[in-house]
Amino acid sequence: MRRKIIAANWKMNFVPLEAKAFAAELVPLVDVDDVDVVICAPHVMLCPVRTATKDTRVAVGVQNMHFEDKGAYTGEISAPMLAHFDVEYVILGHSERRAYFAETDALVNKKAKKALAAGLIPIICVGETLEQREQNITIEFIRIQTKLALAGIDSADAAKVVIAYEPIWAIGTGVTATAEQAEEACAALRQVLAEIYDKDTAEKIRIQYGGSVTPGNAAELFAQPNIDGALVGGASLSLDFEKIVKYGGG
Ligand code: PGA
Repeated sequence: MRRKIIAANWKMNFVPLEAKAFAAELVPLVDVDDVDVVICAPHVMLCPVRTATKDTRVAVGVQNMHFEDKGAYTGEISAPMLAHFDVEYVILGHSERRAYFAETDALVNKKAKKALAAGLIPIICVGETLEQREQNITIEFIRIQTKLALAGIDSADAAKVVIAYEPIWAIGTGVTATAEQAEEACAALRQVLAEIYDKDTAEKIRIQYGGSVTPGNAAELFAQPNIDGALVGGASLSLDFEKIVKYGGG
């Protein structure tokens, strides 16, 4: 039985004082033992978030990292730097990074390898555009994204990875994929994981759904056999996140 994982993606919101106050309020409410809860904060808010999560079961994550340990990469942040802040998770290949910062599948793959080598768990995002859905190539597209992201990663490491299926048309739009659409895609991802590795490994890998998850649709999504939690954007900026976590507890 896979343990559900519900991650907050704060994106580029809050300033550190706001993050401190919100995390202090939120963390005691989501310090639960039946679900893995992660707060993915902007890098400059790691200190206040880590202070709030200290001695709790709530893990800290970030939303991006560089693929080298160090060097002449102005403005970047490396996995060893993050590990120093007890960061456990890193979102990689979010569609906003692919769209606005030209991140490619090859780059996501490099970052995933580096994250795993540094002991961080990558939350690798895949998902189709509305156009691709209308062209009926959703499954093909997310299969390829997944294969490219995991190229060269062995099954022991892959078992630790979290995949987030995030249809781009559902992100921040208030339009959620139906539970059937989300389950169809997540089941297809589980299938491709079994093809890349084996059934055993595929059964271990957690697959989240992301895209306008709210307390109103979380329960139905979490009831699907291949949906192991959620990556939550907008609704993670309020105490709605607590409600979503409670639904994950079943
Ligand atoms: P949303 O964002 O919940 O605001 O749609 C999800 C995400 O981008 O991870």
